[in-house]
Amino acid sequence: MSNLTRRGMLAAGSAAGLGLARGGAVKLAPGKPALLGGTPLFARPSGSWPIFDEKEEKALAEVVRSGHWFRGNGDNVKRFEETYAQLAGTKHCLATSSGTAALQTSLAALGVGPGDEVLLAPYTFVATLNVILNMYALPVFVDSDIETAQIDARKIDAAITKNTVAMIPVHLAGNVADLDEIMKVAKARKIPVVEDTCQSHLSEWRGKKAGSYGATGCFSFQASKNLNCGEGGAIITNDDDLYEKCFAYHWNGTGQHNKNYVDVMHGTKFLMTEFQAAVLSTQLERLEKQTQHREQNARYLTSMLKEIPGIHPAAMYPGCTRNVYHGLIFRYNKEHFAGMPKEKFLKALGAEHVPAGDGYDALNKRRYLKNALNSRGYQRIYSKQRLAQLEERNQLPVNDRLCQEVVWVSPATFVSDRAHMEQIAEAILRIQKHAGEVARA
Ligand SMILES: Cc1ncc(COP(=O)(O)O)c(C=O)c1O
Repeated sequence: MSNLTRRGMLAAGSAAGLGLARGGAVKLAPGKPALLGGTPLFARPSGSWPIFDEKEEKALAEVVRSGHWFRGNGDNVKRFEETYAQLAGTKHCLATSSGTAALQTSLAALGVGPGDEVLLAPYTFVATLNVILNMYALPVFVDSDIETAQIDARKIDAAITKNTVAMIPVHLAGNVADLDEIMKVAKARKIPVVEDTCQSHLSEWRGKKAGSYGATGCFSFQASKNLNCGEGGAIITNDDDLYEKCFAYHWNGTGQHNKNYVDVMHGTKFLMTEFQAAVLSTQLERLEKQTQHREQNARYLTSMLKEIPGIHPAAMYPGCTRNVYHGLIFRYNKEHFAGMPKEKFLKALGAEHVPAGDGYDALNKRRYLKNALNSRGYQRIYSKQRLAQLEERNQLPVNDRLCQEVVWVSPATFVSDRAHMEQIAEAILRIQKHAGEVARA
C-alpha cells in the first residue's frame, strides 16, 4: 500500500476526526491538495474502458464478411441469448437494442398502459422512469434506503393500490436490492416484478443471479456497463408466455418466433444487431475474470473508505451474495470536512484526478416528469385530483438526502490496479486534512 496501511487508516479515522495520522504507519502523501496548488495524487488515468483486442475485431469482421447483419439471417444474437440465459440460470433470454428497450418491452408484455400505476426505485437512471411514462402509466416512487442507496423494500407494500400493475426495483451499481422483501410483497400482492438489473451483470442474491427472481430481469450493455457492446440490452425470464410476448413486441408484433403470436399484439422495433451480439459474446468471455478483479479492488477501497470519518460506502443486504461493483457509491458527510459542500469536495477530487461524480438528481423532481404529467395525453387520462395525489405520494425525503450526499466512483476505476484504490483513499484523506482551506478556496 503506497503510504497508507489499513491499520493506519483506522488510526487516521480516529485522529480528531480529520483522517490524520498520529505517527506510526500512516504517512499521508506530502503536500497540499491539488486544488490548493499541490501535485495531483492520481497521476495516471483510471482504468481504460472498454477493454478489447483483436478478438473483438475478428468477431466483427466475420459478421461483416458474412453479410448476415440482422438477427433474421445471422445466428450471433441467438447464440448470445443462449449463453446469457444459461449464465443467468433462466429459461429464456431475449436480446434487445438497449436496456431501455428491455424495460419497455417487459412493461408492454405485462400489458402496462394508461390508468395503471407502476412502482419504481427513485435513485436510478432516467430510463427506469421514462419507460413508465412511455406507456402513459403513473410512476409511483418508493423511497430509498439511505444505507444501501437501493429501493427501501419495506416501503413497497404501503405504495401499492388497486391500480398497481408492476414494480421496477433497481439493483444499483452492481449491488442488489432486498429481493427477499421485494419478492415477498410481490407474491403476496400479486404484482409482477421487472428487475432493473441494467447495472448488475452477474450480481447474486442468495447464490442466484439478480434479474432471475422477477417476471423479467432487464440488462443494459451500453458502453459504460460491466458487460457492453456500445449499446444493447437483454431480458431474462422463466415465463414462456411473457417471453413470447416480449419477442413479439420487440419485433413489431410480428410473431417471428412463434406463429401463435402473429397479429396478436402491436409492438415496436428493438432488435439487437448481429454486430452487437458478436462483440457482446466476445466481451462476455472476459466478464467473469474482470468482475473478480472489480470485486477485489472495490472491496479493498471500501475497507479503506469505511475508516474515514464522514465517508459511508453503500452497505449490502445480507442476502446479496455477490456485488459486482458497477462503480462504488459512498455518502459524503460535509461535517467531517469543515462543512465543505459536496460540489467542492468533488472539485477537489477531480483536481487529484480521482474519477468520481455526484450521481443522480432526484428523479421525482425532474422538470420533464412534471411536463409529462401536464401533457395533453396525461391530462386526458388522469383526473387533476389523481395527479395531485401522485405528487403528494411522490415525496421522498430519504432519497432527497441520498441525492445530496452521494458520490460515485466511476466503474472503469475498478479494472485498474490496487495502487489506484490506495490513491483514491489517500486523496480523500489529503482533502480532509486540508478541508478548511479547500472549502475556502
Ligand atoms: C439503472 C438503469 N436502468 C436502465 C438503463 C438503460 O439502459 P440503456 O442505456 O442501455 O438503455 C440504465 C443505463 O444506463 C441504467 O443504468
